[in-house]
Amino acid sequence: MRKDFRITRRRWLGAGAALGAGLTACKNSAPVPEAGPSQLGKPVSAYGERSPFETAARMLPDSHYLTESDSFTPLQDSSGILTPSALHYERHHAGVPQIDPARHRLLIHGMVDRPLMFTMDDIRRLPSVSRILFVECSGNSGFEWGGGLLPDIPHNTAQSHGLVSCSEWTGVPLAVLLAETGLQKQAKWLMAEGADACKMQRSLPVEKADDMLVAWGQNGEALRPEQGYPLRLIVPGWEGNVNIKWLRRIMAADQPYMGREETSKYTDLMPDGTARMFTFVMEAKSLITFPSGGQKLAGPGFYEITGLAWSGRGIIERVEVSTDGGRNWRDTGLQEPRLPMAFTRFRLPWTWDGGESVLQSRCTDETGYVQPSREALLALRGRNSGYHFNGIKAWKVMADRSVVSA
Ligand code: CO
Repeated sequence: MRKDFRITRRRWLGAGAALGAGLTACKNSAPVPEAGPSQLGKPVSAYGERSPFETAARMLPDSHYLTESDSFTPLQDSSGILTPSALHYERHHAGVPQIDPARHRLLIHGMVDRPLMFTMDDIRRLPSVSRILFVECSGNSGFEWGGGLLPDIPHNTAQSHGLVSCSEWTGVPLAVLLAETGLQKQAKWLMAEGADACKMQRSLPVEKADDMLVAWGQNGEALRPEQGYPLRLIVPGWEGNVNIKWLRRIMAADQPYMGREETSKYTDLMPDGTARMFTFVMEAKSLITFPSGGQKLAGPGFYEITGLAWSGRGIIERVEVSTDGGRNWRDTGLQEPRLPMAFTRFRLPWTWDGGESVLQSRCTDETGYVQPSREALLALRGRNSGYHFNGIKAWKVMADRSVVSA
């Protein structure tokens, strides 16, 4: 089902590749042109910066409230599967605290045999692992429900779906810490709490504990303050909000804590008036990042359609793309590595004929779950919720070369 992704000469030619008039040809009869100019460089630097010609940036909230806000990853500018730490999306409920790691502590208590307080030095002495994992806000793409429950943001670009990012996280498996404290038999839930001013609190079932990381590293360096410096709970594949930042406390209990963020928020109101609670898993989802809303094509001819797919239930097995509004679907090439609960990059050669074209992507994960259409999601879940939207997203390439949300 999945196609091996290697650009061979045969595949390249088979794609009918034709860059058309886009490239400047060097004619044999003309004098050999010179390569670009060379220039004297800057000296070495202690901490690197990107080229001043690069402008990719997080999209900031257009609102007056400063401490409860989010910023969006520019997915349309991404390459590969990793999000630079400086562009990882943010969601804060009480701003970004500046925490001195020398003074930070993690308390594990409640239904444990030995309540313990860990310093950062304690934690960094313990065995650690690194894992590449996406984190997605459960409110990502929430405006697609059309219910108006979440702040209305411009949703005509890939970036407006950018409350999702993918990093390599490094930390101590939570199981290592729980082995130190012991977990009593009646403990069924873990309440994790942050050191931000709102004391973000979420309850998690102990069955997931074996998969969680107490992370101190991101993409090869310390966590960024916006991502929970110095310590963050990483809960693979589950909604961003439970990946508690500035982690300061884990309390074991026999029932969920029922805090504000799991009663008034982060629940899903169904059409019949009942509310789903503790909906943790982020289901399979994909997004075409090129061509995507707000971009403009140079003209008819060859392009590579590319995008990202991810699933909170494991590995992405298949991504199909339609260029004709969903009538026909083609398998895309999936770039390795394909890791569980991480971004997977898909690519498909495409020759644009210059006419209107509606582009959509549809992914399937290792459980066989297929990303649904928006219509199917609305039929099932109604419009009352702002969370967990993972429907198929369509972009329309217009005859004037612009790309808009369809
Ligand atoms: Co949820």
